Amino acid sequence: MLDAVGENAIPSQATFQACYRRRQTRWHHTAYMRSAKVMLLRRLLVAEKVALEGARVFDYGFGAGGFFLACPTSASLFGVELDPMATVETTEALCAQGFAHVDLRPLDVERWRENGLLKLRYDVVICSHVLEHLETPVELLHMLGRCLAPGGVLLVLLPIHERRRDSHHVHEVTPELALGWCREAGLAVARRFDSDHACDCFQPVFARKGALGRLAAQGTSLGLGLAAKLLGEDRWMPFWDRLGPKLGLRPTQLALALRAA
Ligand SMILES: C[S@@+](CC[C@H](N)C(=O)[O-])C[C@H]1O[C@@H](n2cnc3c(N)ncnc32)[C@H](O)[C@@H]1O
Repeated sequence: MLDAVGENAIPSQATFQACYRRRQTRWHHTAYMRSAKVMLLRRLLVAEKVALEGARVFDYGFGAGGFFLACPTSASLFGVELDPMATVETTEALCAQGFAHVDLRPLDVERWRENGLLKLRYDVVICSHVLEHLETPVELLHMLGRCLAPGGVLLVLLPIHERRRDSHHVHEVTPELALGWCREAGLAVARRFDSDHACDCFQPVFARKGALGRLAAQGTSLGLGLAAKLLGEDRWMPFWDRLGPKLGLRPTQLALALRAA
């Protein structure tokens, strides 16, 4: 599942890589396909009692940097992303917001293991909707686990119960598969949410193709994002966790807080 306004159902690898360019407006960050992930990450942090003030935060595959914008400006931000242009644009947007320490670097998929940011230590590491794209997810999880400072936490989001397989996904993720990856990588699950039931009924809309389909997806994503804001972003996911199963909806995201075992 790709991200936000106009970024779903993307066919080619080139388009996939460019899908975060010029997407730094408030509307893009409000759109549900982006804001739902930020809500879940914040929920994990609250549950794990992790404060971000002054923290070193590393987002591996930060997309358009939605999570960074939810951090206090005292946090030091680090991240990698495939598209060099999106990396520059996100850096500029964060600096304009007042973040003093921003170190975002393009990711060369052929040589990802050599990326200098994988050699540093962080209080919070994010890996959101990335592992399902990789041939060797356990290898990345293991490396991200080694990036944790003492007491640090690795937050992982994964799509589950996808109604239509994204052509960019190498794995169809189930909770069992993901938990096996974590075990193999030597990480302990400190917190788990099977969440985002609201998205389940809108999956067919988000998967639509063509100009009209994209427009419908954008409108739905924005409408849901605004509804979440209205209800309160801290209340949205717990609300749907209770209501969703009663309506026969399935969780669409697995959210894990991992710590060194
Ligand atoms: C669907 S996007 C998720 C972006 C963002 N984390 C989010 O949750 O919205 C998948 C991300 O995986 C990352 N990635 C890393 N290695 C990759 C690879 N070999 N193939 C595809 N994507 C890769 C890219 O940074 C890409 O933006």
